[in-house]
Amino acid sequence: MTAPIVPPSDASIARAADILQSGGLVAMPTETVYGLACDAANPKAVACLYAAKGRPSFNPLIAHVLDLDAAQREGHFSETAQSLAAKYWPGPLTLVVPVAASHTVCDLARAGLDTIALRSPKHPVARTLLSHFGGPIVAPSANPSGQISPTHPEHVLKDMGDKVDLILDGGPCEIGIESTILSCLLEEDPTLLRAGSIDAGAPPIGETSETTPIAPGQLSRHYAPKASLRLNVTEPNEGEAHLGFGSINGSINLSSNSDLEEAAANLFAMLRSLDTTHRRIAVAPIPHTGIGMAINDRLARAAKRD
Ligand code: TXA
Ligand code: MG
Repeated sequence: MTAPIVPPSDASIARAADILQSGGLVAMPTETVYGLACDAANPKAVACLYAAKGRPSFNPLIAHVLDLDAAQREGHFSETAQSLAAKYWPGPLTLVVPVAASHTVCDLARAGLDTIALRSPKHPVARTLLSHFGGPIVAPSANPSGQISPTHPEHVLKDMGDKVDLILDGGPCEIGIESTILSCLLEEDPTLLRAGSIDAGAPPIGETSETTPIAPGQLSRHYAPKASLRLNVTEPNEGEAHLGFGSINGSINLSSNSDLEEAAANLFAMLRSLDTTHRRIAVAPIPHTGIGMAINDRLARAAKRD
């Protein structure tokens, strides 16, 4: 059975909350990418979610909450963490903090770690669903593990339509790249685990082992199309699709006026589209500034062949 894509009316959001309550999976729009949502406190539902994504259960999930109050029931927020939340929530920032004794998010969702990733999304449909449901919602990107994240409801339908119960249509995602993840443990300065649209100035941590991923980009291949990817290409080879940027036009252009925000919003949809027509994709150079750092991070992971 394929899940319906439904407009986010009060009735369909109430239906989505019921599905979550009964342990089902819902595709939820956020301002970054579409998430595959389930009840964070229900280990059976979380096990189904890992299975639906084909995701290794040692890779923990982000718990989505309405606000800092709800987040502080789940995790310990240092003063630094509190001020980051105050500054950037609701929005595309995930904070990894020590888990609190009062937590409701199940161990499986945290992959048994004594830390927890928390984010308060800005998308109005995600927020309405969170307030109807009343508890934390875990939501990894709604794509099979390792593949390209979805930024349109149709992407979810194509990749996961037979695995979810309902797809809430929140339109195309405004940002188009997953949230910035900062590790914010007590008495430590924040470190960057995953680049995103928010640059809070935290330094990146070094890459660690493959078996205890600290953030998803550390799994060697991620965000990957089926086609091979060649980066920083101004002149494509014969037979290659060319994803352009700025004055390097390409077959399609991420942003012809060199707007990095526009490029981020287009990145996954354009990669998906070229992936259906070509076996090799060449990508124009993207500046390593602002959200360009996150775009280059995703492209580098997607280009890995191991
Ligand atoms: O923008 C986003 O963050 C989207 C939307 C749906 O909210 N979600 C998302 O989830 O990108 P996901 O599961 O694809 O990536 C989240 C990553 C996990 O893969 C994991 O590596 C990292 O967050 N993470 C979760 N809990 C962690 C923890 N306790 N410590 C370190 N990293 C953690
Ligand atoms: Mg993901």
